[in-house]
Amino acid sequence: MLTLTVLLLPLFSVVAARNRHSHDHSHGVAKRLPDAWYHPDDHPVHALFKRGGATDGLTYPAVGSNEWTQAYPAGPPNSPKTVPAEWTAALNDAIARKAIPDIPVAQANGDNNPSYPGHDPNSPEICSATYKCRIPGDIWDAPDGYLGISFDDGPEQGSDALLTFLSTNKQPVTHFMIGSNIVFMPDQFTKAFNMGNDIAVHTWTHPHMTTRTNEEVLGELGWTIEIIHNSTGGRVPKYWRPPYGDSDVRTTAIAREVFGLTTIIWNQDTGDWSLTAKGGTTPQAINSSMTQWLTGSKSPGLIILEHELSTESVASFVAAYPIMQQNNWKLASLAQLMGGNASYQNAANNLSPVNPANNILGAKSAPAPVASSTTKSAGPPNSAKVAAQQTSAKGSPSTSANTPNKSSAAAPSWAKPPMGLLSAIAFLSLF
Ligand SMILES: *[C@@H]1O[C@H](CO)[C@@H](O)[C@H](O)[C@H]1NC(C)=O
Ligand SMILES: *[C@@H]1O[C@H](CO)[C@@H](O)[C@H](O)[C@H]1NC(C)=O
Ligand SMILES: *[C@@H]1O[C@H](CO)[C@@H](O)[C@H](O)[C@H]1NC(C)=O
Ligand SMILES: *[C@@H]1O[C@H](CO)[C@@H](O)[C@H](O)[C@H]1NC(C)=O
Ligand SMILES: [Zn+2]
Repeated sequence: MLTLTVLLLPLFSVVAARNRHSHDHSHGVAKRLPDAWYHPDDHPVHALFKRGGATDGLTYPAVGSNEWTQAYPAGPPNSPKTVPAEWTAALNDAIARKAIPDIPVAQANGDNNPSYPGHDPNSPEICSATYKCRIPGDIWDAPDGYLGISFDDGPEQGSDALLTFLSTNKQPVTHFMIGSNIVFMPDQFTKAFNMGNDIAVHTWTHPHMTTRTNEEVLGELGWTIEIIHNSTGGRVPKYWRPPYGDSDVRTTAIAREVFGLTTIIWNQDTGDWSLTAKGGTTPQAINSSMTQWLTGSKSPGLIILEHELSTESVASFVAAYPIMQQNNWKLASLAQLMGGNASYQNAANNLSPVNPANNILGAKSAPAPVASSTTKSAGPPNSAKVAAQQTSAKGSPSTSANTPNKSSAAAPSWAKPPMGLLSAIAFLSLF
């Protein structure tokens, strides 16, 4: 049954992503992220994932051992339904300070995009990334001239080929990993980490996150952070990418306010996930798209959605790599481009020291992003082009850059009449 689950995960992701379209480039506002990459030391995430320094006196089971495997949500459908009480308490605390918008859970529509009956998904109140609405603070574009390289859904069938290629070319990348896949492919996880690549969050079971309740979102993100934290010497991931690029103000707020995660989407989509699907894309079609993007404008820079799902999807990256170089793109992992060149919330990279929560260097609230005019700026490497500011009469949510000072955080007036939460249709129960 476990084997069945691991086989079904990529299948599900392939099927359900069918209706995705590539995301347009932004012509919006570029904002500089703060140089300080640590969150304030009163951010809740530091109380939830405490390990710091070389050791905290605890013994952590070896990655891949039975003890390690059995500590994580298991069994079909590998649901992360059970969450530690302290995560729930942190969520409730965020809700109490009105940091989590009270909007309906989206309706799941099978392979089609989630919907919000009676609501505009592009409105500031919902701002669904599936409908290409950009939430302030979310990252869609790379800085001018840069191509931020990342792979989703690992560890997976394409991971071995990918890691071999990256190692040969000494090319760092960001892996948005699925927590339950890490359990099943610990060797590929460890290899990617040891190579120095950023390990980021792609949820535990790869659902459309907007169709999940607050508690379910908590479990999907929390368990994935937990396995990365406990298996990398205490590193707390800094970035997450929602499966299918499906996030809204609610899911993004839970990620940011409870776990300190910044959301990264993309601005071009190869559709490489469908190379192995009937009626899917072809290497020729990807070649054509890649050629267009790689020989086109360098402003903004590129974040191309790619997957380590299959040897075919990896091959499409390998084929395009020389063209990336020939066109003088500056190639980097996403973390190297954004928010101060740090891969983790509490460590710069996979080798640097991990900072204990009670000794966070540079712990201070960073200035809130300031909306500028509509001109695009040629940002230096550490300036991420983040989402176009949604002008909202109701105020914009705080971002990871100005995470809460609980006593002073101005409560955004998200409160709306209770809509009655649509019950989350658990695709998990289909298994
Ligand atoms: C992860 O490590 C923490 C200590 O930092 C421990 O309390 C927790 O049980 C571990 N989680 C798992 C799933 O092993
Ligand atoms: C597209 O295919 C041509 C012909 O095989 C090849 O020379 C070129 O490098 C490919 N470009 C990309 C971006 O894959
Ligand atoms: C980011 O940090 C790495 C070391 O972790 C360094 O090699 C690289 O040059 C830095 N990149 C930028 C853009 O500062
Ligand atoms: C939080 O805000 C309160 C009230 O404005 C202030 O006294 C306190 O110093 C702030 N704490 C931090 C960590 O900024
Ligand atoms: Zn995915």
